[in-house]
Amino acid sequence: MPVSDLAGRVAFVTGGASGIGLGIVTVLVERGCQVVIADLRPDHIDNALAQFAGAGRSNAVSALRLDVCDRNAYADAAAKMQAEFGGIDILVNNAGVGLEGPALKATYADYDFGFGVNVGGVINGFVSFLPQMIAHGRGGHIVSTASLAAEVVMPSHMAIYAASKAAVCHYCEAVKQELGENGIGVSILLPGPIKSNIHQANQNRPEHLRADSGFVESEAKLAERQVGDWWMEPDEVGNMVAEAILSNQTYIVTHGIFKDSMRKRAQAVLDATPDVENANVSGI
Ligand SMILES: NC(=O)c1ccc[n+]([C@@H]2O[C@H](COP(=O)([O-])OP(=O)(O)OC[C@H]3O[C@@H](n4cnc5c(N)ncnc54)[C@H](O)[C@@H]3O)[C@@H](O)[C@H]2O)c1
Repeated sequence: MPVSDLAGRVAFVTGGASGIGLGIVTVLVERGCQVVIADLRPDHIDNALAQFAGAGRSNAVSALRLDVCDRNAYADAAAKMQAEFGGIDILVNNAGVGLEGPALKATYADYDFGFGVNVGGVINGFVSFLPQMIAHGRGGHIVSTASLAAEVVMPSHMAIYAASKAAVCHYCEAVKQELGENGIGVSILLPGPIKSNIHQANQNRPEHLRADSGFVESEAKLAERQVGDWWMEPDEVGNMVAEAILSNQTYIVTHGIFKDSMRKRAQAVLDATPDVENANVSGI
């Protein structure tokens, strides 16, 4: 049974202390959810909790420090949610890092950082929370944040980021039916430019993946990037996400500005595809 109302639901939002995640938390709180923010950065957590305290909403929000790559800590967080709330209803796999750098300079440390958070963190969310979300029988919903970078051909300095987001998108598309049969809806958030701190990727990089990085210069440059005035407000994304949960909408696309590039990529794949009569489709 999909989530048809938000009031009284328990939501767990990773990367919920900044940017898009904070926008989603804000809207879910407005709509009556009890929300747990799970985030790596204590400074972001403090700011977010202060925001809700200032608005007199402290009772609707709590936070825990979590690195979504840490499977043991993630399992502990899920056990805590089970003990406190009898399990969560809504999981938002939103934590991600916007790393970028020249493909020829990328080292294993850069691949491990990008895929570790952007793909591994999402998978850890599914593995840690799906059992309790199915077992409690109230139905539930999982939103995972990919990117429009997954839907267009990106410049090569964004290759790791784009590939990690494409993995999230295809994983969620593939599991949607099976999870639906178990009462869990699935949505994929595909944002364009949103006001956030995503340019601070280097502050989120763990110590053991710093020394061998080939992206030190590019991440330092990225850290200086200014957020554009015209970029979308996170609360606007939060509203789109809330509506998508209620309607079990698969794709949440925030911007139309990349539509031509999206069409061009899809068309190029179709153009390279043989006619169906030529294919042996038995066994598919
Ligand atoms: N802002 C954009 O324009 C944009 C566009 C497309 C996709 N996205 C995606 O949106 C999601 C949210 O990013 P944002 O733009 O709001 O950036 P942000 O940096 O403002 O927020 C991300 C939050 O995730 C947290 N985080 C980072 N690594 C973590 C980890 N290992 N474990 C737990 N928390 C961690 C950070 O501390 C931060 O609070 C990301 O997945 C990002 O890739 C953003």
